[in-house]
Parts: sequence; C-alpha cells; structure tokens
Amino acid sequence: MKVVSLIGARPQYIKEAVLNKAFREADIEEIIVNSGQHYDYNMADVFFEKLNIKAPDYNLKVGSGLHGEMTAKIMIEFEKLVMDIKPDVILVYGDTNTTLAGAIVTAKLKIPLAHVEAGLRMFPKDMPEEVNRTLTDRISNYLFCPSKLPVENLKKEGITKGVYLTGDVTYDLYLQSKDHFDYSVYKEMGLEDNNFVLVTLHRDYNVDDKKRFGEILKALNELSKETRIVFPIHPRSRKRIEEFGYEDYVKNIDILEPMDYLSLMGLMEHCKSVITDSGGLQKESYYCKKPGYLLMPDPAWHELVELKMNYLCEPEELLKKMKEKKEYNYVPNVYGQGDAGVKIVNILKEEINV
Ligand code: UD1
Repeated sequence: MKVVSLIGARPQYIKEAVLNKAFREADIEEIIVNSGQHYDYNMADVFFEKLNIKAPDYNLKVGSGLHGEMTAKIMIEFEKLVMDIKPDVILVYGDTNTTLAGAIVTAKLKIPLAHVEAGLRMFPKDMPEEVNRTLTDRISNYLFCPSKLPVENLKKEGITKGVYLTGDVTYDLYLQSKDHFDYSVYKEMGLEDNNFVLVTLHRDYNVDDKKRFGEILKALNELSKETRIVFPIHPRSRKRIEEFGYEDYVKNIDILEPMDYLSLMGLMEHCKSVITDSGGLQKESYYCKKPGYLLMPDPAWHELVELKMNYLCEPEELLKKMKEKKEYNYVPNVYGQGDAGVKIVNILKEEINV
C-alpha cells in the first residue's frame, strides 16, 4: 500500500508524528507532502526534528496568502504530484486550508480519501476551519473520529459510511512523548510549579478583531498583576499586537517565540491553568489535568466543557471565571486509549485492497 499524507501547519505536524510512527512500524510506505503553509523554523521544521518525523518527501512551499490563493496554490501543486505518485490512499488532517486543498484534489482524482480528526463541528459556521472540515468530511471515504461526539455529528448530517471511532492521535502523542518533555524553558525562566498561567492565542476572531483582542489583552494584563503569564506567541498574534499598538498590555507578560511540542508540554505540565483558543491545546490541557479557559465562541471539544475540565469564556468574564472555586475531577480516556494511530493504520490495511 502506498500512502500519501498531506500536512502543512503546526497542528498537522504533531498529528503526523503519530501516524508516521504507526506506518513505519507496520512497514507501510508513507510519502509525506508538506504544503508549506507554515514555514518559520519554530512553526514547522522544529517539529520534524524534535518528534522524529521523517523529513517531508516533498515541500510545496506555498507560504502565506489569502485563503483562496493559498488553497488554490496547494491544489495546483498537489494535483501534479499525486498524478505522478499514484497513491492508494491519501490522508489529510484536521481543518486547515491544506486539509481542504488536499481533500478536493484527492476526491477529483478518485483516490480514497482519509480524514484524520473527522466530525468536529463548531460555530460560527463561516469560520475558516469549520468550512474546511465540513467540506472535507463530505467527500472523505474514511472518517477517523477522535471521540463519540464527532461520530454523532456526522450521523446528523447523514454520514455513517466509512466512519470509525479511533480516539485522538494527539492523546497517543502525549503518552508516547511524556517521558521526553523538555523542561529547560520552565527551569531557565525560574518558573514555579502550579504558579503560572500558560496562554496561546491565534484565531482570527480573537486576534484580527481589534476591539476583542484589546479586551483579551486587557484581561491578561490585569491577571499579570497577580500571577506570572507565559505566552508563546503565534506570528499572526505578534503582528496584530504591533499593528494595533497593544505593546503596553503585554509588558508584564513573558512573551516567547512559538515553541516546539516537547517544550510547550514541559511548560504545561507545570502550569496552574491554560488560556487558549487552540483546539489542540484545550485537549492537551486536559491530558495534563489542568483547567483550560477557552476564549472561543464555541468549544471545539464540547465533552471537556460538559465535564467541567474546560471553561468557555468571553474576554470580560475571564478573570471572574478563573477565580471561581471549583473542583477538577479528571475523567480519563475521553479521547481513547492512546492507540488511535495504530487503529487508523490497521483499518486502512484492511480496507485498501492493493
Ligand atoms: C492555521 C490554521 C488553523 C490552525 C493554525 C495553527 C487555516 C485556515 N488555519 O492558522 O486552523 O489552528 O494554523 O497554527 O488553515 N505566519 C508566519 N510564519 C509561519 C506561518 C504563519 O509568519 O510559519 C504568519 C503569516 O503572516 C500568516 C499568519 O501567520 O499570514 C497566519 O498563518 P495561516 O497559516 O494563514 O493561519 P494560522 O493563523 O496559522
């Protein structure tokens, strides 16, 4: 079986680490294509190096751009490549522009399409990621769902064929790499266990909206008077802080460069709580048993909010919600047993007749 995986952004590099290992162990040839949607060293290469992912076989080097432009560029280059490679199945991951571009090309070439992290649904419906994932699910042949809820979401849309509940590959990665988390940043910064808040923000609805981003940073500024805040910052958010002139709001915050997975998890294991708008981080905060405060209109992972391990907040209520006294009752295995990657590879082995 010849497999192609198309990846291109930070969260996909992380998921690829698990699949790449599982394919290697099953002795299956996996050809990795990187669209190059993310290209800074700290946003891309560092993940391949630190997570032992084989270097991509191809890099389409599309870089940044308008959504249509980026998607179209990936489609043009990926189509040529796929016609040449002639894979038996193509895997796309999550919900980025790279995911959608790969899905359209694959379906049009009538090659079996597998979607890792299928079935997630979120408001608002016009959010770029929601557009990408719903369209991808619609045309996928194999839909690998990280938990029960996505299976239900797909059912409501009449999608039941090819749907598999596998668990979440990011939970596999957490378990596989826990012993290698990198605590050097934590130590070098002189941070104290359970005594700082870890923040990440990059969603367009938070950081591109001047008023909303201002409210969020004002709240963080207030919080920084009471507790240390560590904020590894996405390039998009850094740009907006400069553009909107918000430097004063972040002067008491430890702003760091974007960080590799192992170092970020090293911080997370020691922090008190997490503030984020990242679908990935909200689950990782749960794996580390830390409360996650979500600055999102809708949580990607409803289970964690219902189970009271994540809290949905508007910027103006963030501090109040963080101060409320509450129990943290960890519920294990919401996202499977840590064998999602192996399950996905086994399903493909069985289903794809070569
Ligand atoms: C993308 C995904 C989002 C995912 C996120 C993870 C889409 C629509 N969004 O959002 O789902 O959660 O990645 O990080 O695909 N930039 C750099 N260097 C880089 C990459 C980006 O400077 O290596 C800057 C560029 O100026 C770019 C901006 O960041 O315009 C945003 O990058 P882009 O890939 O468009 O979207 P993300 O916000 O990263």
